Amino acid sequence: MARSFDVVVIGGGAAGLMCALTAGQRGRRVLLVEHANRVGKKILMSGGGRCNFTNTGTSPANYLSANPHFCKSALARYTPADFIAMVERHGIAYHEKELGQLFCDESSKLIVRMLVDECSAAGVDIQTGCSVESVSQGDGGFQLRTSIGSVSSPSLVVASGGLSIPSMGATGFGYQLAQQFGHQLLPTRAGLVPLTLSGKHQQRFADLSGLSLPVQARCGKQSFRNFMLVTHRGISGPAILQISSYWQAGDDLRLDLLPGEDALAWLLEQQRQRPAAELKTVLAEALPKRFAQRLCEVWLPNRPIRQFNQPQLREVASLLQAFPLVASGTEGYRTAEVTLGGVDTDGISSSTLQSKNVPGLFFIGEVVDVTGWLGGYNFQWAWASGHAAGQAV
Ligand code: FDA
Repeated sequence: MARSFDVVVIGGGAAGLMCALTAGQRGRRVLLVEHANRVGKKILMSGGGRCNFTNTGTSPANYLSANPHFCKSALARYTPADFIAMVERHGIAYHEKELGQLFCDESSKLIVRMLVDECSAAGVDIQTGCSVESVSQGDGGFQLRTSIGSVSSPSLVVASGGLSIPSMGATGFGYQLAQQFGHQLLPTRAGLVPLTLSGKHQQRFADLSGLSLPVQARCGKQSFRNFMLVTHRGISGPAILQISSYWQAGDDLRLDLLPGEDALAWLLEQQRQRPAAELKTVLAEALPKRFAQRLCEVWLPNRPIRQFNQPQLREVASLLQAFPLVASGTEGYRTAEVTLGGVDTDGISSSTLQSKNVPGLFFIGEVVDVTGWLGGYNFQWAWASGHAAGQAV
């Protein structure tokens, strides 16, 4: 005999927990199933253990999606202020790190505990270590065969996340379910992920591993100004993670190594002030010394700066402001913070996150083709989409 609920939520991550507690608060009988041994594993590891739980500057412009308008409705109805109010109600101390990014003072565990406490207070039945074997649809709604027996409900919420960090429980289950019910999928790829270099490009950077410098990373019309970190296999750091979501193999990727500076004007000023200094010494004023040195070993001629005429200085300036970075790929889902693409928003209502063709079926969070920038935007989408569906189930 199947146990019946009003709502079954598949996936106990950020979106699933928010949806479950919202529906529970509305008096719905909710079952949340999570196949891992605990809920909220990604929340726990997020923000270096302190969870960057939202961004006060969240706007639809901070998201990538085939339909950039899709996220607007849910984001407008559950804002960062709404989540902050819950955080404050639970007495969780937080601070702004930079650019509107809010982090817990102590630990991400407090965010998971808050969500679980809210679920308990709302009567949500949370089953961890429970995997869903099959889902079918009949007269009474959805029937699920799970490792803890059969359950049925008129509403089914798919909150099973994307493919990033498989070791944390990520599966393609939500995508399979979407296809089973006739939804289109947009191609998925790793986002917010370090880029790899290969061959001579890697060799030129490999021994600089650990160096960090501010850059403006540019791909097409998108650019991000922040730090870049040289790693053993390539490059990372916030500027690179951000641009990685916009970059695809073969795309032109440029770095402005003197962000915010007019490089030519700066070089001319250096030439005037210290004509006998070699270019590598001059560049080491603005860049890490070893990086400046490498630029002058591989890409730029090193001689006293007075020996550069203006066209030559202009060439140096353009290399500094549009340094071509030849990435070979990304580190992939193993280290990616998010998965781009996923369930096509065309088949889903933007206000309720309900399937347009299958009444009672909802998709929320990362499984949907909505991906945020680095900086708390992905959790804000999880909270907002979870809340929208939780209001509608
Ligand atoms: P999420 O992946 O969180 O949850 C899905 C859940 O479904 C998982 O618990 C999974 O085990 C479960 N599941 C999957 N298949 C299942 C099945 N078949 N049956 C049952 N359960 C199943 N974002 C941000 O805004 N601020 C930050 O600080 C960070 N930091 C960060 C660090 C790292 C290392 C990563 C990998 C990611 C981040 N992110 C982030 C991104 C953020 O974690 C992500 O966008 C949200 O967790 C997405 O929430 P969801 O609930 O959609 O998926």
